[in-house]
Amino acid sequence: MLRSALLAASRSAATRSLVEGTPLTRPVVRRFVAGETTADAIAATGELLADGRLVTLDHLGEDTKDAAQAAGTVRAYVELLKRLDDAGYADRAEVSVKLSAVGQFLPVDGEKIALENARAICSAAADAGTTVTLDMEDHSTTDSTLSVLRELRVDFPWVGAVLQAYLRRTEQDCRDLAVAGSRVRLCKGAYQEPESVAYQSKAEVDLAYVRCLKVLMAGEGYPMVASHDPRLIAIAGELAAGRGADGYEHQMLYGIRPDEQVRLAAEGQRMRVYVPYGGEWYGYFMRRLAERPANVAFFLRSLATT
Ligand code: FDA
Repeated sequence: MLRSALLAASRSAATRSLVEGTPLTRPVVRRFVAGETTADAIAATGELLADGRLVTLDHLGEDTKDAAQAAGTVRAYVELLKRLDDAGYADRAEVSVKLSAVGQFLPVDGEKIALENARAICSAAADAGTTVTLDMEDHSTTDSTLSVLRELRVDFPWVGAVLQAYLRRTEQDCRDLAVAGSRVRLCKGAYQEPESVAYQSKAEVDLAYVRCLKVLMAGEGYPMVASHDPRLIAIAGELAAGRGADGYEHQMLYGIRPDEQVRLAAEGQRMRVYVPYGGEWYGYFMRRLAERPANVAFFLRSLATT
């Protein structure tokens, strides 16, 4: 119930202005968001790289209906990629992009514009010597996002995608994408989805995750295990036995289980942290609250005591 309410609120303009307008919100948000500016993103990246973690950076924003805003997001990524290169970080830090932030929902030619905008970001990533991974949003966008992925991979074969284990279709998508050169970030899925398309219980989602992981680990692509779940992390290690430490990687979100991130990196495993930054943190933050009821108590306590 609480999860559903928070996910519904993540798309409500009224709740958004209430939460964003609360001056006390910001310190709580900082647990999950590295800061507002490119300089903040670069500083957070430097700290994570220093203890052996890898990084993927997300310039926050989603669901834009404004072409100028989508173009602004592209500029932000191009600047970020240049700064990563200048800092000498581009060999260990890549970027993650939401197609809805670069035009996918524009009323006319949305997918085409998103493709061209994503292409500009990929081109800047190629110049910097790093990679791009396409985030996955709600199920109504899955076909469109995978179609953009196919187009981008013609020129940029290293572009990766996220697949969400909670979707009933995903095991087949894993089979389709478990091919040489393909990078797949497997997560559980963070949106509110109907039963017709998605498993609803934690047990079903966890089982689906393991089935998908088996397909990816047995395939020829590069699996990216995006989960904080200790059981799934252990299973991933077992399934990856024949791959060697460079044949796959673990990924976690900024601010979540940082000690485990450091432990995995210290063991010599590839461990990448997803680092969001920018002013448009509302939707991302609400999804993090929805994942864990304890975060809501933490959020409310901070409002009461700060
Ligand atoms: P689960 O939710 O069962 O959590 C396991 C444990 O991790 C918890 O018991 C707790 O200890 C800790 N934990 C998890 N979430 C927490 C939180 N918010 N606060 C504090 N502790 C927490 N989703 C999506 O739909 N599209 C996408 O593109 C992406 N991209 C993405 C990239 C990366 C690198 C990661 C790690 C995750 C995503 N996600 C995502 C989010 C993903 O779908 C999922 O919602 C979260 O990772 C939580 O699921 P877990 O697998 O961690 O398991």
